[in-house]
Amino acid sequence: MQVGARFDELREQALAELAACADERALEAWRAAWLGRQDGRITLLLRSVKDQPPDERPAFGKAANALRAELEDALEAKRQELKERALRELATLRALDVTLPGRRPTRGTLHPVTQTLRDCIRAFEAMGFRVFEGPEVEWAYYNFDAVRIPEDHPARDMWDTLWVDALVDGERKMLLRTHTSPNQIRVLERHAPPIRVIVPGKCYRQEATDATHEWMLTQIEGLAVDEGVRMSDLKGVLYDFARRIFGHDRRIIFHHSYFPFVEPGVEMAIDCFRCRGSGAECPTCHGSGWIEILGAGMVHPEIIANAGLDPSRYTGFAFGLGIERVAMLRWGIEDIRHFYQNDLRFLRQF
Ligand code: PHE
Repeated sequence: MQVGARFDELREQALAELAACADERALEAWRAAWLGRQDGRITLLLRSVKDQPPDERPAFGKAANALRAELEDALEAKRQELKERALRELATLRALDVTLPGRRPTRGTLHPVTQTLRDCIRAFEAMGFRVFEGPEVEWAYYNFDAVRIPEDHPARDMWDTLWVDALVDGERKMLLRTHTSPNQIRVLERHAPPIRVIVPGKCYRQEATDATHEWMLTQIEGLAVDEGVRMSDLKGVLYDFARRIFGHDRRIIFHHSYFPFVEPGVEMAIDCFRCRGSGAECPTCHGSGWIEILGAGMVHPEIIANAGLDPSRYTGFAFGLGIERVAMLRWGIEDIRHFYQNDLRFLRQF
């Protein structure tokens, strides 16, 4: 009876302390103090069974075990209660309804021109070309003179130039590059053959815009210089590129053309997706049935020689590809001006 009374007191104390626990940390301290394996008070109590007079041991042991079980249950119940209270508090404090479906974050996508640019780069990389980059604000020397377009040459009119309004040595010498071709020279200045590079980037032209012309455009310049590079290599690379990007059923045509930095020069066009060559009034291909996507040719021997290479030994081809045109042909976009108006109804389609 004395034993029982002592346990009642212990139980009361333990339960009172447990009731005062306000969080998980207090619970843990309580558990260590009462039920800890080393020196929890109940553990010590159980260990003291053997110190009791022999005839009291069974009752003592039984009561101590029952108390331990009771306290363990009380601890579990308290833990549960604290958890539920914490959840309830969270729900009211933050008014958080965890059953509400989440709000979908608005997710951007790559611009269709960027997507196309990357696909084109990948197609050329698969053929062994490596990416090189050059400046958008360029010297007139690289943009024109070094690619055989001297001042007053009528070919300068092919590109209506946006000049940077700054004088260098009393002259206007900086411009927004009108094509990526100046990088043919920049690459040849830094690298020796064998050369197989592509140079992606934006170009700027001050021209009246229409369905296929914008004042800003994206190009990929290609350049291969080595011993024995031939026109057939150029055609092979461009055919393969076209098949990779447009598939097998698109038609391709080469026309001869003139660019001062190549000899001979060509243009490559793809059959018009809009009229398929039948519409004389088609605003996208202007009735020709073809949409030109690139200029190309064999690097002019003078440019090879200016690079310090022997043109009788080294030859090369170059091309300049218009990425917006490629994107238009891929997706059937009838007007190049859609790309840069930032109308989400248009951009969300890609
Ligand atoms: N730079 C020319 C253009 O922008 C394209 C071109 C590049 C032509 C390389 C021939 C060789 O129109």
